[in-house]
This record gives sequence, C-alpha cells and structure tokens, in this order.
Amino acid sequence: MPLDILVGAQWGDEGKGRVVDLLAADADWVARFNGGDNAGHTVTVGRQTFKLHLVPSGIVHPHPRGVIGNGVVINPVSLMQEVQMLKETGVDTRPARLKISFAAHLITPAHRALDAAQERARGQLQIGTTGRGIGPAYTDRAARRGLRLLDTLDEITLKERLHQSLLESNRMLMAWGSEPLDVEAATADYLPAALALRPYLTDTGLLLHQALKAGEKVLAEGAQGTLLDLDLGTYPFVTSSSTTAAGVLPGLGLGMLSPGRVVGVTKAFQTRVGSGPFPTEELDEIMTARLRGTGANPWDEFGTTTGRPRRVGWLDGVLLRYAVRVNGLTELVLTKLDVLSGLPVIRICTAYQDADRRLDELPLGPANLAPFAPIYEELPGWSGDISHIRHWQDLPDNAQAYVRRVEEISGAPVSLISVGPEREQIIARSAA
Ligand code: IMP
Repeated sequence: MPLDILVGAQWGDEGKGRVVDLLAADADWVARFNGGDNAGHTVTVGRQTFKLHLVPSGIVHPHPRGVIGNGVVINPVSLMQEVQMLKETGVDTRPARLKISFAAHLITPAHRALDAAQERARGQLQIGTTGRGIGPAYTDRAARRGLRLLDTLDEITLKERLHQSLLESNRMLMAWGSEPLDVEAATADYLPAALALRPYLTDTGLLLHQALKAGEKVLAEGAQGTLLDLDLGTYPFVTSSSTTAAGVLPGLGLGMLSPGRVVGVTKAFQTRVGSGPFPTEELDEIMTARLRGTGANPWDEFGTTTGRPRRVGWLDGVLLRYAVRVNGLTELVLTKLDVLSGLPVIRICTAYQDADRRLDELPLGPANLAPFAPIYEELPGWSGDISHIRHWQDLPDNAQAYVRRVEEISGAPVSLISVGPEREQIIARSAA
C-alpha cells in the first residue's frame, strides 16, 4: 500500500509544487489533505508556469488522478477559476479525473470578510493571514456550523444556510467596525460556483482506500509547512490546519497505515511570509535583496498567493531538526541551492543560545523563539553558476559540503537537490 507523503519542512513556500511534480510522475493519485487557496504551488513545465492554489500540483502530469480531501477548505469561486485556467492550458480537470470529498468545508464570502476584519481588529498582533478566509472557515468547522460540499446537493437549504451565515457574520463585522456584506451580491457569484462543484463530489476516503488496497500509488501533497501547523507550529502565528505528515490520514479520510516515503521539502535558506518569530532572519538590505531576488522571476521570494515580499534568512538547523522529528521524515529535498552561489560565506544555525545555555533542541516547541539567539556555523561558499549541473559529482566541493552539513544537522538524508525552477534542474544526491 504505497502512500507517499510530501510536506513543507519550514514556513511554507519551500518549492513543494516542483517536487510534487517530480514525484507525481509515477503516482496514480495526487491528493491535497489540508489548507485551501492560501497555498500557492508553482510548477514550471517547459515554457509554461502553473500557479495552483487548490488543485493538487501533480495534476499537470497526464496520468495521476487528483483528490481534494476532507481536510481542505474550498472557496468554490477560486476553485472553478483554477479549473478553468487548467482547462485552457490543456490540463484535464473534469470530474472523471478530479474528485472532491463530500466532507470538505466551504469557504464563503463571509469567511473572507471576517478574515480581513479580524486581522484589522488584532492591531499590533496581526498574523498576516493571506486573507482567503481560511481561519474563519476552520473555526466554523470546529464550531460544527460550517457548510460542507455535501450541502451543495440541496440547493434550497444551501441558499438558506448561506444567507443565515452571511447575516450572522454581518453582525460580527459591524461589531468589529467593518462594513457588512450585501447578502444578495455576495451570493450572486458564489452560489453558481458552489453548485458547479456537485459533479466532483464523492467519498474520496473510500476511493483512496480502494486504490491503496489495489496497490496503486498515492502521493499526499501538503500545503504550507511544518512551522505553520496549527498544533506544532509557531502558534499563534500559524495557519488553521494540520500541515504535518500526521494530518494526512484524517485529512484524506484514511485509517491508520504506515506510509512509504515521508519527504520534507526545505529551501537551502529560510523564508517566512506574515508575522511571527524568525530567529535567523537577515535584516541587512544587500543580503536580503540577494536571497529574495527582485520579483522579476516567478521563483523570486514574493508570495504566490498574495505577492507579499517574503522575509528571508539563513537555514535554521534547529527548526529543521524539529521538522524531521515531528513529521517522521525519511528524507529531505533541498531546493534553491543555486541561490546561494557566489556568496563567500554561508551561515547555518546549528543550535540556539539563551541567557546561559546552548540548546540543541527546542525546550518548549517553536511558539516562543524570542528568548533565543541562533548559534551559527560559517561554511565557505562556492563561486559560479550551478543551475546547469545535473550530477552530484559535478557540484563544487563546497556545495557538496554544505549539503552534507545540512544532513548532519537535521538528522535526515537529502535525496534530491534543486538548482532551478525547471523540471530537469534537479540533482539526485549520490552516496559518493
Ligand atoms: P492563513 O492560512 O491565511 O490564515 O495565514 C496564516 C499564516 O500562514 C500567515 O502567516 C500566512 O502568511 C501563512 N501562510 C498561509 N498559507 C501560506 C503558504 O502557502 N505559504 C506560506 N505562508 C502561508
């Protein structure tokens, strides 16, 4: 029963889309199990760049079928736009190929409005959400008053419940000093899009169970990253879903089973979008610009969903070790190694220091990192472009040494290294 899992090992944006694209080549199913259209997965195939938010990225391959599991929250308008975009670029997303769980929750216009209003009300303590309504949709799910895909089957009740939830959220919006939504206008685009999802609806848990039993290969595709996990991340600066490997089973409606590969994707450096702790953040303007890029390329460090510039810094080995542990990672994929080319010295955080101690592990999880200063190790860099290299042996010695050090510090082997956005710009780590 091969269930492979791929998750982000940092704060999201690790380049999961391109790694999924690689691993999905021989998968029968690709499945999203968490998050919503806050995710932005970029896949470049030849001259085409796909920016996917809800549909599993592996769908750009002709063979695998796609699943959006019950752990995902769906904005029908965004999803139908994405389906249309994929159709126009020749990717088959018809209901025969793309399946959505009947138990996935719906993001409504009320959720988006509440997300924005709540952020404003937080003032100094803003989380920096993507504004997609993710938090309020999961809040309604936990409060047992959410709308699920199943509710689209009864149009009249759906309309009634949508109206009711809009009226309720209007009361909250006004209490927060925000403008209420025009209920009729808010449902005008929304209802047709929600109803258009009906042909996709099925019991995806049953489908995947049967597929695994028949020996088919399922690739579970995580959104966001370990440090944004609701329970295990840098709480409260997290998203509202389970982003780690253990979230796959409830998020896809599967029973307890042992996965095959559990792959964690990490950049060769660290980035974060939104607020929250970031011990290895680089504040020097020249260095920041160097790691972030200008925004001219789709792979520069600007949010795929929001366009916000990402905060950048050095690889945090303490947090990576934590991600290896809490996900049970069997391997790491190291992305964007090419971005470090030309730096005379590369820093990597190996431990933290508080007032009087060196700490190799987080004493109380990653929520409060303020008391710690990173302890850096400095490694010599390498000169010259490495984006054309395809074999481990051809990487400069110092680049190989950096990868080996990442393995030692994190405690997980690196299986693949990416040196550019294209499908083929990937290097298999060989033992030699
Ligand atoms: P939300 O998921 O929109 O509620 O945002 C909560 C936090 O997670 C914010 O700091 C966002 O910037 C961050 N976040 C959500 N989705 C992503 C993602 O796909 N990549 C990186 N950060 C994300």
